[in-house]
Amino acid sequence: MSTNRHVTGDHLWNVAVVGATGLVGLKILQVLAERGFPAGEVRPLASPKSAGSAVPFGDRSLTVGELTPESFAGIDIALFSAGATVSRGYARHAVDSGALVIDNSSAFRMEPDVPLAVPEVNPGVIRRGSGIIANPNCSTIQLVVVLKPLHERWRVRRVVVSTYQSVTGAGRRAVDQLEGELRGEGSPERKFPHRIARNALPQVDHFAEGGDTREELKMLNETRKILGDPGIAVTATCVRVPVTGGHSESVNIEFEKPFDPDDVRDLLRASAGITVQDDPGRALYPMPVSADGSDEVFVGRIRRDTSIPNGLNLWIVSDNLRKGAATNAVQIAEHWIRHETVSASHSHNT
Ligand SMILES: NC(=O)c1ccc[n+]([C@@H]2O[C@H](COP(=O)([O-])OP(=O)(O)OC[C@H]3O[C@@H](n4cnc5c(N)ncnc54)[C@H](OP(=O)(O)O)[C@@H]3O)[C@@H](O)[C@H]2O)c1
Repeated sequence: MSTNRHVTGDHLWNVAVVGATGLVGLKILQVLAERGFPAGEVRPLASPKSAGSAVPFGDRSLTVGELTPESFAGIDIALFSAGATVSRGYARHAVDSGALVIDNSSAFRMEPDVPLAVPEVNPGVIRRGSGIIANPNCSTIQLVVVLKPLHERWRVRRVVVSTYQSVTGAGRRAVDQLEGELRGEGSPERKFPHRIARNALPQVDHFAEGGDTREELKMLNETRKILGDPGIAVTATCVRVPVTGGHSESVNIEFEKPFDPDDVRDLLRASAGITVQDDPGRALYPMPVSADGSDEVFVGRIRRDTSIPNGLNLWIVSDNLRKGAATNAVQIAEHWIRHETVSASHSHNT
């Protein structure tokens, strides 16, 4: 298998980025370069429309190749962000040619043999397994990073979340629609069913039976899978707002056990991947404009909900293209190669 070819401390890994011309794919290339990921070849792939175009990778420019079933020869890690249809059509080809697939789409997230991973939350699931590791939905990632330490300490019984989601979460065409509308132009190809400029759409993804949107159901099902607790109750209302830079979430939590809001602040300050911004006197709280470009999950407006016993209110913001997508995927890859390297050195030493 290609991943075990020469696993040493200074081994370089050949990486394919599927959907390299999209918002997430471009961010993956940026994050790989920024973090000094131990990449040998980096192979950007997209549809025939973009084949031959150039994408930036650090101070270099890479030529985009057309995605085909044969695109993965010699690749160790394939990072997919071209939508669920492309993942369903091509991920197995990548696995069959020996690559580990890390998939940003919703295609495989709820399959029982596919780990759904957030490295700060459930690093233990990051294993090759069936060859595919799924990256959770962006709104879910920032929520579970915060829920995990709270759940361990006070047991979360129920979560009520309302999102205010950035247009960048819906891809390049969504950003084009917003910018076109702000310039006063009609948009030739609308991404959303209504105008988004100076508006708020209580619809993210398609509607499912029963009236929830698929995004709202992802927040329930993925949270339970990642936290490994099917008993947690989650109800969500997901709203698209004319914002870039990050998703915001108003989160109401009911704990099983009594808590003190100061202890919540201290615990979150000490937790990996979280920055607490909570000083009402200085109007300090998380916002998309300040989260933009960061890998952190920001939490503020931490206060008791006095309408129920053991109730807590929070406001959570994170850059959906970074921690919600690209950074989390690259962190999964980093975690996996550390594990592979350690396993290989153990098997050499025994
Ligand atoms: N945006 C987010 O915050 C976010 C967060 C988590 C997960 N995701 C997921 O990541 C995926 C991509 O999102 P995005 O925001 O980057 O979308 P996007 O900006 O619309 O980019 C889509 C990418 O997919 C490529 N693509 C489309 N059809 C293809 C095909 N048939 N074959 C090969 N490549 C194809 C496009 O290539 P061309 O340039 O050639 O069309 C482009 O590179 C989606 O599954 C999305 O749900 C997004």
